[in-house]
Amino acid sequence: MGSISATLLPFFFTVLMNSFSLIISPSVIEDLNNLKPPPDFNVTITNNCINNPLLRYCNSTPFDLQEIFKSTIVASHLCNISKNPNCVESFPKINLHHKPKLAPLYLSFTFFWKYCPLTITSIDLSNNSLKGNFPSDIFYCSQIHHLDLSHNRLVGDVPIENFSSLTNLTFLNLSYNHFSETGNLGLEFFKRFNSTCFIHSGIFPNHIEFRFKVLLLLVVIPVFVLVVVFCLGWLCSSRPDFLPRCLRRRYKFTPSVLKAATNNFSKKKLVGKSNSVNVFCGILRDRTEVRIEVYNDSLLVEDRVKFVEGCEILAQLSHKNLVRVLGWCDNRRLRAIISEWIDGEDVETWLGNCGPSWKRRMKVMVGILHGIIYLHEEWPQVDCDLKTKNILLNENGEPLISKFKFNYDDNVSKKVHKFGMFILEMVSNMRPMKDFDGAEAGFLHWIRLHYPDNLQKLIDERMKKKELVIDQAKEVIELGLLCTDLSGAHEQPSWDQISYVLSKNSCIVLASSDHRRHHHVDGRRKPKLIQIDETHDEIEMAPHTSTDHRRYLTV
Ligand SMILES: *[C@@H]1O[C@H](CO)[C@@H](O)[C@H](O)[C@H]1NC(C)=O
Ligand SMILES: *[C@@H]1O[C@H](CO)[C@@H](O)[C@H](O)[C@H]1NC(C)=O
Ligand SMILES: *[C@@H]1O[C@H](CO)[C@@H](O)[C@H](O)[C@H]1NC(C)=O
Ligand SMILES: *[C@@H]1O[C@H](CO)[C@@H](O)[C@H](O)[C@H]1NC(C)=O
Ligand SMILES: *[C@@H]1O[C@H](CO)[C@@H](O)[C@H](O)[C@H]1NC(C)=O
Ligand SMILES: *[C@@H]1O[C@H](CO)[C@@H](O)[C@H](O)[C@H]1NC(C)=O
Repeated sequence: MGSISATLLPFFFTVLMNSFSLIISPSVIEDLNNLKPPPDFNVTITNNCINNPLLRYCNSTPFDLQEIFKSTIVASHLCNISKNPNCVESFPKINLHHKPKLAPLYLSFTFFWKYCPLTITSIDLSNNSLKGNFPSDIFYCSQIHHLDLSHNRLVGDVPIENFSSLTNLTFLNLSYNHFSETGNLGLEFFKRFNSTCFIHSGIFPNHIEFRFKVLLLLVVIPVFVLVVVFCLGWLCSSRPDFLPRCLRRRYKFTPSVLKAATNNFSKKKLVGKSNSVNVFCGILRDRTEVRIEVYNDSLLVEDRVKFVEGCEILAQLSHKNLVRVLGWCDNRRLRAIISEWIDGEDVETWLGNCGPSWKRRMKVMVGILHGIIYLHEEWPQVDCDLKTKNILLNENGEPLISKFKFNYDDNVSKKVHKFGMFILEMVSNMRPMKDFDGAEAGFLHWIRLHYPDNLQKLIDERMKKKELVIDQAKEVIELGLLCTDLSGAHEQPSWDQISYVLSKNSCIVLASSDHRRHHHVDGRRKPKLIQIDETHDEIEMAPHTSTDHRRYLTV
């Protein structure tokens, strides 16, 4: 390069020497205004180009003689001002360091930069308080090795992509400027020039920091957001019990939650089993003990929709005499209903084992009546399966209906009939299913046979048969007979009438109006057990566990 530049230079400056014999006035502006290209200028340039076709003006045919001539005038002044050793022989550097008046002037001569002499390898414009954008005309001098623009007031973006044309540039200083950061994402550029080139320049003081920022903005933050979203998504779909309560969906249980509650549905937790249902005792993360009924049969899509609709209704039932449904799981692989766990006896066992007193039986009958009336008034589409086996007693002796069905033809007569059967069983401790071969008719016939003359036979003999008890039991049997009489001979009593008779005979005062449950009002647990009846399967009781409590199952 050095040798080439040495030969190029004379071609450029012969123009001046031949034409003016170096009579240049002190001011470049004056010269630009007064000096005119000599008549043979065209020939001179043409000859120059023949000798060295690389000269920048050789590409601009036809020659703009005026512009080329002006650029030679500027070049000669700039060469002298820059203290080049011999402006006739060489022009290696533009040195406008700390020349705040001249630097902007020379930068404004676009025609000069357009024909930037090939000999120039160094440009220093530092310490001039230059204003405005990056002086892009410099890029015409694509051969330079050295560029210093430090200590100016340049603003805007640095045209980083243009630096790729300055292949021989090895020194760059943009320090102490006011460039903007935006758009400066050329990693190649920052590999080429280290941070000492950009001290207080507005662009990245340190390309490691820059890379870090880029990494943070482009990679780490999006990855972090993705991870958070993924984790939340996973928690929502899999383990919502780890989410804060406000983010959980009420009533919805996921298979993972149930798995965790039952040690992956371990045999130890299995408390009941039938063809289509497995019943587990589980413990949720908040330590609530729950009963989980898992259905093994697969349902069609529309039946699953019905299942969920049913569960939604069950979850809303709220009465002190109904078992509380906590939620359900409706997954393609796992379908289940979750209700609160109760350790308690069912009424059938209770009646059979301990022969409870009349007072306690009345409490159960009244409680069940409340539950039925609540369902009848508020949820006519929900019916309960009123068998003594399906009624559970909690630790306060309060009866809880635990088995429900959906019955869209709200048949009051049937409900009253079933209630009648129930109270007759409560008085007599006889089971139509077992003692009369499942025939209700046989049971009722037996009652009518002995009523009212042979009451002693009808009333459970284990009750202390005080006169008062016998009187009350007699009225209850009569009520039961009226309820179960579908012959049409008598009108069935209404719920009001039934309430009246029971309350009259009960030492328990019927609560006036609102029997709805207030969950955990007194901080005590109100255990319940629930069952949706859709399969009509009977489930076998689980074998007795070591505690004497039986686990109840009433599908
Ligand atoms: C300069 O000379 C060339 C031929 O060498 C010619 O084509 C061109 O027209 C001339 N230009 C002027 C401005 O005289
Ligand atoms: C060149 O610069 C010197 C001072 O460095 C000055 O005396 C001289 O007049 C200048 N010559 C031209 C032709 O501008
Ligand atoms: C840069 O310019 C300031 C005035 O703008 C001057 O005080 C300082 O000496 C200059 N620095 C150099 C290295 O020329
Ligand atoms: C860089 O230098 C090499 C060799 O010195 C030269 O061939 C090349 O043309 C130069 N690049 C530019 C853009 O001037
Ligand atoms: C940065 O580059 C300059 C030359 O441009 C060099 O002198 C200096 O040692 C480099 N500094 C570091 C830290 O790489
Ligand atoms: C650029 O200029 C600044 C200030 O003059 C200086 O501190 C820095 O070292 C220079 N950078 C290089 C690469 O020379």
